[in-house]
Formats: sequence, structure tokens, C-alpha cells
Amino acid sequence: MINFEYKNPTKILFGQGQIPKVALEIPQDAIVLMVYGSGSIKQNGIYEQVKNALHKHTVYEFGGVPANPEYDILLQALALIKEKKVTYLLAVGGGSVIDGVKFLSAAVGYQGDPWDILKLRIRTEEDQGMPFGTILTLPATGSEMNSGYVVSRKETNEKLAAGGPGVFPQFSILDPEVVRSIPRRQIINGITDAYTHVLEQYITAPSAADLQERIAESILISLQETASKLMTPEFDYGAAANFMWCCTMALNGLIQKGVITDWAIHAMGHELTAYYGIDHARTLAIITPSHYRYNFEAKKEKLAQYAERVWGVTEGTVEEKAKAGIAQMEHFFHSMDIATKLSDYVTDYQDTAARIKQTFINRNLTGIGEYKSLTPDDVYEIVQMSY
Ligand code: NZQ
Ligand code: ZN
Repeated sequence: MINFEYKNPTKILFGQGQIPKVALEIPQDAIVLMVYGSGSIKQNGIYEQVKNALHKHTVYEFGGVPANPEYDILLQALALIKEKKVTYLLAVGGGSVIDGVKFLSAAVGYQGDPWDILKLRIRTEEDQGMPFGTILTLPATGSEMNSGYVVSRKETNEKLAAGGPGVFPQFSILDPEVVRSIPRRQIINGITDAYTHVLEQYITAPSAADLQERIAESILISLQETASKLMTPEFDYGAAANFMWCCTMALNGLIQKGVITDWAIHAMGHELTAYYGIDHARTLAIITPSHYRYNFEAKKEKLAQYAERVWGVTEGTVEEKAKAGIAQMEHFFHSMDIATKLSDYVTDYQDTAARIKQTFINRNLTGIGEYKSLTPDDVYEIVQMSY
């Protein structure tokens, strides 16, 4: 097991009826900016719950953060924070709103061009970010309990990530009741994103980190079992709760400790969102099978373990089991109606591999994956296999 340090300061308030507790988590004298997305919280009752809970606080609002939070819009929120002398941020939304708030938290005290935080990946150290909490409305990214964020910029077709210990949420409220109003498409996205987060931290080299590997396998199995329960028209609170906690556990830092992690799928997937606006989770479903087929030799041991422990494949050689694992994974995506080829989403895809290769060269991303060995040429091949 690789040496590690682990500190996760985010307090989780999980379960039905937890949202009003937001009032106890934010200091009474704080000047709060409540940040939300394009309006779903006004239709499903979450907005009222939050406003009622915070009626004794000073609260300003900033709505309109779009999916894949847009830099230009976040700059408007940054101006409002400065104008109103805001001291505490509250994100009410999914990964996009939470990520947007993390960026704001990092940017408030940053002297210089805020885009540099993303472009130069400037870490926000402890005590540097503005304090914030979150009320999660969409299980998927794990952003509610981690210190990373991703911001998009349409003007330049960029989607960049940054983070650091200073942008952990102080608290996150996870009420599975919010799942009731989530459209099927977004539920599928959430399952797929969380599933791929686990794969990125698990389908690497065999490790001695038994506990982390078995937690990773448990999250995968739970997501598989929960998926079908979430697809039925009746709301299943137990399934919603498992879904929510799986998504958080998939990317709160725990399963990545002591092991090597990949993240090449995300690096390539983000480019597909930047160019085509394809939902984050769907970009991952496009890249994942090709990534594992292309890197088969390096990953076959773990793929075989995945097939055996997660899907119960016991027959065959390591190679045969590994191939069966990839096939099961793809079948799982298809079972949720999630397409796994770029051509299923866009028609003008022919130059995508070349564009992404060039972007990686321009950004000096010359070695990605768990061994930092995948070159822009490898990226080209993987993306092309995904057509
Ligand atoms: O805009 P609103 O009104 O909030 O509506 C959203 C949005 O249209 C809607 N929604 C959210 N909760 C709902 C709901 N609709 C009905 N009922 C509810 N309860 O769902 C749509 C998608 O929301 P969004 O926040 O964009 O989705 P998601 O949580 O998947 O976040 C995606 C973003 O997170 C980044 C992605 O790249 C993408 O930008 N990621 C962040 C990560 C992190 N911080 O750790 C890791 C991930 O790998 C990912 O990169
Ligand atoms: Zn993701």
C-alpha cells in the first residue's frame, strides 16, 4: 500500500428532513450568498425549504449557474460577492453549482486574473477559500465531499479542473428525498459518473490495498443493484439513499488512498464536453470501454478481478475474464440506455481525436494515466476507437 495522508473535514448531514439544519451550520452573523442553477429548486420545493430555514440570516441570491458551470457567469457572482461583502457561500444544486461555488470560494481572495487559478491549477490551501456549505440536489459527482472542481469556458472551448484543501465544503446536506424530482436522464448520468469515478481509482494495477479495493467493488455492486430500482416509476427512498451515499463515497478521497489512480478517462471526457457540450457522464461512457481495450495489457489483472468479484465471472483465463469484465461494463451502460460511441451523440466527430491530441500537446499533457505514460498519440488512438 502506498503511503498516504487523509483528512476530510466536510460534515455530512444525511437523511430525510435534514435541510432545515442548514440554519445551524451557517454562523448567524454571516452574510450569505445562496447560489443555485437554472431553477429546478424552485419547482421541487427545495428553494422554499432553504429560504424558510435561513429566514433569520442575511441571504443574497445568485441563480442561473448552468450545467458545466460557465466562467463568465461565475464572474458575475464574484462581483456580487464583493459588492455585498458576502462572508459565506451556500451551494444548492448538483455538481455544477457546487463546483461553481468552490471556484468562487477560491477566487474571492485571489489577487490576479481568476482564470489563472484554473489555467495554472493554483491550489487553494487550508484557510484560503471563503467558507461554504452545500445542499446537494443531484447525486453524481461527489463534489459535496471533496476539494476538486471543474469550470468551463465557452469562449475558448476549455473545461479545466482545480482544487486544494481550502475548498472542501464545511458541511453538506444530503437528503435523498431530492431524488424524487430528478429526471431519468440525470439519474442515469449520476450512476454513470459515480461508477466511472470508482473505475478510475480501481482499474489500475493490482495493489495490496485490500480494503480500498473491496470498498470500491462494493460501491460498484451497490450502484449496479440500485440502478434498476431507480428506473422504476415509483420512488424508492432506500434506493435513493444508497444511490446518494454511493456517489459521495465514490469520490470523497477514501478509495484512492494507498493505490494509484488513473483519471485519463476524465481528462479525455472533459474535452468532449468542451467541444460538443455532451453531458459529463456520457463522455465517460464513450471513452471508458475504448480506454480499457487500448490499455488491456496494463490493466488486465484488475479487469479480471473486477469481472470476478463484481460480476461473478469465474471461468476462463485472466485475459478471458478481463474481456468479459469490459463487456459486462458496457452492457451495464447500455442497460441504462446510455450510448457508448461518440457517433451516437454527434455527427461531426471525424477530427475529434486529432483536436484532442493537439489540445493535450498545447497544454503539455504529455503523460496521463496511472503510470503517466499515455502520450497524446495514445490519446488519439483511444478517442478514435470511441467513434
Ligand atoms: O440547473 P439546475 O436547476 O440545478 O438543474 C440541474 C441541471 O439541469 C438538474 N438538477 C439538479 N438537481 C435536480 C435537478 N433537476 C431536478 N431535480 C433535482 N433535484 O440536473 C441538471 C444537471 O446538473 P449538474 O449539476 O450539471 O450535474 P452534475 O451533478 O452531474 O454535475 C456535472 C458537473 O460536475 C463536474 C462535471 O465536469 C460537470 O461540470 N464534475 C465535478 C467533479 C468534482 N467536483 O469532484 C467530478 C466529476 O468527475 C465532474 O467532472
Ligand atoms: Zn466524473
